Amino acid sequence: MVPAMSADPDPRAAYDLTDRTAVVAGAASDIGAAIARALVAVGARVVLGDLDATRLDAVAKAAREAGGQAEALVTDVTSSESIDALVAAAGPQLDIMVNLAGVIGDAAVAETSDAELDRVIDVNTKGVFLGCRAAVRAMTPNGSGTIVNMASSGAYTPLPGLATYAMSKAAVVSLTRSLAAEVGRHGIRVNAVAPGYVEGGMSTRRARKPDGSVDEERMEAVREQVRQRVPLGRLSLPEDVAQAVLYLATDASRTTTGQVLHPNGGRPMVS
Ligand SMILES: NC(=O)c1ccc[n+]([C@@H]2O[C@H](COP(=O)([O-])OP(=O)(O)OC[C@H]3O[C@@H](n4cnc5c(N)ncnc54)[C@H](O)[C@@H]3O)[C@@H](O)[C@H]2O)c1
Repeated sequence: MVPAMSADPDPRAAYDLTDRTAVVAGAASDIGAAIARALVAVGARVVLGDLDATRLDAVAKAAREAGGQAEALVTDVTSSESIDALVAAAGPQLDIMVNLAGVIGDAAVAETSDAELDRVIDVNTKGVFLGCRAAVRAMTPNGSGTIVNMASSGAYTPLPGLATYAMSKAAVVSLTRSLAAEVGRHGIRVNAVAPGYVEGGMSTRRARKPDGSVDEERMEAVREQVRQRVPLGRLSLPEDVAQAVLYLATDASRTTTGQVLHPNGGRPMVS
């Protein structure tokens, strides 16, 4: 059943997530940490999952120190048992599901091994599918819920060496639109966010030294390229992506479904 709507919702009430429960899969990333902070700041209880136990615990601890309710569960999004357990940890009232876990690979199609292809598709596409499926199963009996999937500008902008990543994220866009059409009548909304360059996380790969540390000079050159390319002339931070996710997670977006938000500084989608 689709919940009743008031004609004139108070914008502050629309963003209030008190008594709502959110699951974030991939929460140990910089973007995941920013999303957890944003959800907790407006009252949500968060259940956080990621493969990286150490960073995940740090994100959950920070959320609790900020006064929020946060639990952490080590999760592999490529396993249906694991993602089902994460969603089950939310309890009977799952209100928000954020499917964020992702990996990137830089390799030309001709150089891509079967194992690398499987790695990217398993996390970015199958993982989001499994997260959506678990969420829909949990939300349908309640007649409400909102799902936010992490796509990428890579789904729209062709770049050499990023074909596996791009197609894995294009599938996320397609899944988001198909599922939105399928579950709208159950009161469930499904949307995606497709950032471009975001500070931190996988963006640092272009400036990694062989020992894994970041070469700050090369990183600054990458940032400058991005500033030149985007109309707003500024870099997107994890917090900017979190604001887009927050909009889609709350009643502020109550009639928005099957859509993709592009918090990318206004970068055109085809370069
Ligand atoms: N950083 C960017 O510029 C950018 C731009 C567009 C989209 N994104 C998307 O945002 C998301 C987060 O990216 P990020 O830049 O913060 O990168 P990141 O590498 O810091 O984060 C990815 C997270 O996914 C987790 N993860 C990987 N495989 C997993 C699995 N099998 N099960 C559970 N967790 C797993 C990692 O442990 C990590 O915490 C990704 O989906 C990425 O594609 C990032």
